Amino acid sequence: MHQPGHRTPPIPIKQITRIASDFFEGCRKTVLSPTLTEAGFSGSTTYIFTHKHTRRRYVLKQLPRHLSLEQILWTQNLSTFTHNQGYALLPVAIHRHGGDKFLPDATPKITKHTDGSLWQCLEYIDGKPCEVPQKHQTLLGAKALATFHKVASAFQMPLRRSFCGWRRRTQQLGTIITSEPELPESNKVNNPLHSELRALYTQFVRLIHAPETIEIIRGTLKHKMSAIHQPALKDCRWEHFLFSESRDRLTGIIDIDGAGWDDPAVDMARLLGSWQLENQTRQEKLVDLWPEAFQKYSAIVEPGADFSFRVQILHDTGIICGMDRWFHWIFKEKRQFPNMKLVLRRITHLLHAAPAAIRRLERSQTRLNRN
Ligand SMILES: Nc1ncnc2c1ncn2[C@@H]1O[C@H](COP(=O)(O)OP(=O)(O)O)[C@@H](O)[C@H]1O
Ligand SMILES: [Mg+2]
Repeated sequence: MHQPGHRTPPIPIKQITRIASDFFEGCRKTVLSPTLTEAGFSGSTTYIFTHKHTRRRYVLKQLPRHLSLEQILWTQNLSTFTHNQGYALLPVAIHRHGGDKFLPDATPKITKHTDGSLWQCLEYIDGKPCEVPQKHQTLLGAKALATFHKVASAFQMPLRRSFCGWRRRTQQLGTIITSEPELPESNKVNNPLHSELRALYTQFVRLIHAPETIEIIRGTLKHKMSAIHQPALKDCRWEHFLFSESRDRLTGIIDIDGAGWDDPAVDMARLLGSWQLENQTRQEKLVDLWPEAFQKYSAIVEPGADFSFRVQILHDTGIICGMDRWFHWIFKEKRQFPNMKLVLRRITHLLHAAPAAIRRLERSQTRLNRN
């Protein structure tokens, strides 16, 4: 997922089989019973199918419409690059078997359907995400991230750069505290979902625009952090880390369409932070919750100055900015989401986690006073 929320109309199975056959010699008979996966946040249609002869499984995924070909090529090349370096955890896109008269030769791993949609075919990764991790799964996750960052730091393909890590966050936070929140109109047709979202938005505004919170956010903006730019996964929440049945092995990391240049601390904040959001009984700092994961990470790759601090502050501010983004997409951009239950769940988790995040941000400021 990169940016969530563009529902696409369903495509008949026959057509899916046709799209999949673009990636295999011998055409349509090679594809066996494509099954639709549960909708992710992006709303991209994703099918899993088995190759009739080799019995290997693949994932046919529609590319999110808002992503540029440049971005897609970049992530496809990134995973191929890491594979060639011996890092086998990312899904690799496979070549289509012929030319595509609608696409440039520079995009050999993308095909275009007659309706204009773009598709890629990825190797299937067997495994299940782990919602409640034990120490061991956090270690495996940290190890996978550290190794990825180490390997990917040598990937040189240019990509249009946007603001990274802390710079992007300070910009978002600055906008949040200087803009006047507007409560969306109450719905005239009685729509319970809209009312629920509106109630959540009211809670968000009360919490974030309270004078004490604004003061804490202003203080937070004074932190100076080194800007590290290198290839990062960015959307690496726990749902995208797959484990073996016994959970003692990480089998892969999926959904890397949103990868780009960023501070690697963003990835660690997303992974460990998303685990904490899912299991909110403990609200201490991530490094106190899972110290071994940080040790493991730093043993593999040089994490740069104040790594655990960077991770923490990106997690805490990410909770605030994440909610702001969701409400912006829903009320300002009026986006449609394929799976509204998931969206509500995500916003509710963020909202529950917000008071503790604000308290941690407040505590982090003693460090400013010390320096
Ligand atoms: N390479 C893969 N191997 C196995 N399953 C995958 C793979 N890619 C996607 N899936 C399945 O498809 C679902 C949605 O894919 P994802 O890439 O996360 O979509 P979205 O961009 O909509 O979030 C995942 O939750 C997973 O079940
Ligand atoms: Mg996803």
